[in-house]
Amino acid sequence: MAINHLIIAVDGPAGSGKSTLARKIADILGMEYIDTGAMYRALTLKVIEEGIDPTDEDDVLGLLEETTITYENNYIYLDGLEVDKKIRENIINKHVSDIAKIEGVRIKMVELQRELARSDNVIMDGRDIGTVVLPDANFKFFIVASVEERARRRYRELVDRGEPDITYQGILQGIKDRDRLDSTRQVAPLYKSPDAYEIDTTSKTVDESVTEILNIIRGGK
Ligand code: CDP
Repeated sequence: MAINHLIIAVDGPAGSGKSTLARKIADILGMEYIDTGAMYRALTLKVIEEGIDPTDEDDVLGLLEETTITYENNYIYLDGLEVDKKIRENIINKHVSDIAKIEGVRIKMVELQRELARSDNVIMDGRDIGTVVLPDANFKFFIVASVEERARRRYRELVDRGEPDITYQGILQGIKDRDRLDSTRQVAPLYKSPDAYEIDTTSKTVDESVTEILNIIRGGK
């Protein structure tokens, strides 16, 4: 692979497996992994903690002005505090898509994401990486799975973490709502870039999907 600055874009809906796969590929290929969803989640956490209405764009943008989000060594920091666990709670799942559809929020996050990709070899995952953030990526993957399988994975994850009041039906509905919001928003909606490889993880093990992706990368273009 004779590429000096390797950039891999990974997109897909909630629970498709993109972050699990991206992390593994990053480890195997010795690249930086950048989780862009964590950035939108961190701002959502602050919006909730400050008691701001997530649908009030002016208030959210005002808060963003006085917020520092940084991503270092795989950890996300909100105003200097590491918030990796807190941003995975179900309350964040419920509101993050309202925050992520605000244009001013996206402009700032995309700037930060491009800056992170400037010097290192990176694999970055999200919703608009191959389409908007890094359209010149060397490889683009679009990870999909059935909505029921995605809900099952997210349900197990939250139950394993000990979150109370989690039901499979509630998670399924939440994922459907987020799919709709993320795919129909005005700015940078989720869709498969025409030059992305689609990987369906529904009935595959993680290792099978990792192998599928590595074969494409190692096969070159
Ligand atoms: O892990 P999961 O797929 O559930 O979500 P995530 O990747 O952490 O992203 C959480 C939310 O942030 C998504 O539902 C989108 O609303 C938003 N997001 C986005 O709009 N653009 C990105 N590049 C990444 C996430």
